Amino acid sequence: MAEAGTLHDAFIDELRDAYDAEKQLLKALPKMARKASARALKEAFESHRAETEGHVDKLEQVFASLDEKVRGKHCDGIAGIIEEGKSVMEEDFDDDTMDACLIAGGQRAEHYEMAAYGTLVAWAQAMGHDEAAGLLEEILDEEKAADQKLTGLAEGGINQAASEAAMAGEGDDESDEDKAPAPKRATAAKKSASGGKKKTAKRK
Ligand SMILES: [Fe+2]
Ligand SMILES: [Fe+2]
Repeated sequence: MAEAGTLHDAFIDELRDAYDAEKQLLKALPKMARKASARALKEAFESHRAETEGHVDKLEQVFASLDEKVRGKHCDGIAGIIEEGKSVMEEDFDDDTMDACLIAGGQRAEHYEMAAYGTLVAWAQAMGHDEAAGLLEEILDEEKAADQKLTGLAEGGINQAASEAAMAGEGDDESDEDKAPAPKRATAAKKSASGGKKKTAKRK
């Protein structure tokens, strides 16, 4: 009978997953930087790409500290987040809205990484892998800082700019919504006023 896997095996598996996730992000971040309009957002993605290269190096040091071969294992989680980000990037949004969406996508990736590294640090500490724990904690801190930087950019003007454009667009005579026949719109308004199903925001 095969021996059951241990926490050490699960730890190595998670490390391989994280290594692959970083490699995927190395390719995705430049695309996000190119798509961003606000200079500060472009720079945030570019500088996090450089940090991400450092994460790859640190993970290689972690593997070495454990006498393990450096190997990645396809990370489905980050692949899904990147895929969602790609489909948002294909939308026809105004520049400020696209920036707000890029921040949202970027933060999904950072939170995924924060969860992964939080677990890896805890497991490394529990098993007494001090060198690995230290390196993983350094990565975790940079993921948290990247997330906070994105929050700062969103709250520091990008969300506001996007919402102003949305509010200005409400009076736009060319929007499909304004072409809707008046009685239908009145019914919709009545429905939502009476606590009916909330209308989903239009994306275009
Ligand atoms: Fe990372
Ligand atoms: Fe990251």
